[in-house]
Amino acid sequence: MKLPPKVKLVDVGPRDGLQNEKQPVPAAVKIELVHRLQAAGLREIEVTSFVSPKWVPQMADAASVMAGIERQAGVRYSVLTPNLQGFEAALKTRPDEIVVFGAASEAFSQKNINCSIAESIERFRPVAEAARAAGIYVRGAMSCCVGCPYEGEIAPERVAYLAGLMKDIGVQHVGVADTIGVGTPLKVQRALEAALRHYEIDDVSGHYHDTYGQALANTLASLELGVWQYDTSVAGLGGCPYAKGATGNVATEDVVYLLHGMGIDTGINLDKLVDAGKFISEFLGRKPNSRAAQAILNKRAG
Ligand code: HMG
Ligand code: MG
Repeated sequence: MKLPPKVKLVDVGPRDGLQNEKQPVPAAVKIELVHRLQAAGLREIEVTSFVSPKWVPQMADAASVMAGIERQAGVRYSVLTPNLQGFEAALKTRPDEIVVFGAASEAFSQKNINCSIAESIERFRPVAEAARAAGIYVRGAMSCCVGCPYEGEIAPERVAYLAGLMKDIGVQHVGVADTIGVGTPLKVQRALEAALRHYEIDDVSGHYHDTYGQALANTLASLELGVWQYDTSVAGLGGCPYAKGATGNVATEDVVYLLHGMGIDTGINLDKLVDAGKFISEFLGRKPNSRAAQAILNKRAG
């Protein structure tokens, strides 16, 4: 088994993590979270999304959050853009990367972005073209690559189909998402292999929600395939408003602990990351949803 020597983690906490929070989180707190994440060594942060505020009220301050960030050299700031309207608003805030988000499941596509898979691709096409013309990197998130809250199990062929469509419209990288965290290692490997039929290993990442506690195992299984890029969320924040019951992404702290313990470099300072998770968890009035963070905080207290 040859594991990648180095892994890149994209912290999606400010976006995926906070989008589902019922209590309003002020832009200043989101900005501070981004600052703390970059100070901890994160080299890419998914900051916010330019979506309809009627659909996701928590992300209504997207432009203010982007404007308030003091950018650090070497850090990439990505934002979600579901359509041209979102892209045009995002463009003014100078993101390094935009994310179009589709689904391997028809029902989820309808619930999340109010259109079919085929329609979503037609919406993403001009977004991808405009982004690339502006020199902005284009990533595609692929939801429900293992299971769907409305359709149940999703076959790898559906993932391959979506990845092929993303490739056709110029999406440069795809993220294989287990939106509701139902995946187990072999199923996640099959989903990744489906994406790898259309994308090189350097252009595929894993995005695992931890609803059933499988996300670390799924990460290890993905490393075994050579996948070296993952979306994770500080303090395990997160969930999708259109995937009821799904919990947050795997905690960045837990993944960093796993990787460093295996001698895999992330460039992240775990102590500072734990502080970032403590900051946002205290704001939200709860403990970090990360076993590693809890263990480190307990050790500090003791
Ligand atoms: P729609 O209602 O079909 O859009 O929504 P529309 O084009 O018919 O426009 C309707 C209204 O929305 C209009 O306003 C537009 O101006 C406005 P009105 O005239 O009624 O006042 N609108 C917008 N406003 C701001 N920004 C925009 C925008 N577009 C239209 N970009 C739409 C379609 C895609 C907009 C809607 O369904 C939506 O915003 N969905 C977002 C859902 C979402 O954010 N989900 C969570 C993120 S995805 C996720 O979490 C999964 C991921 O983590 C991977 C995984 O785990 O699976 C990435
Ligand atoms: Mg997600």
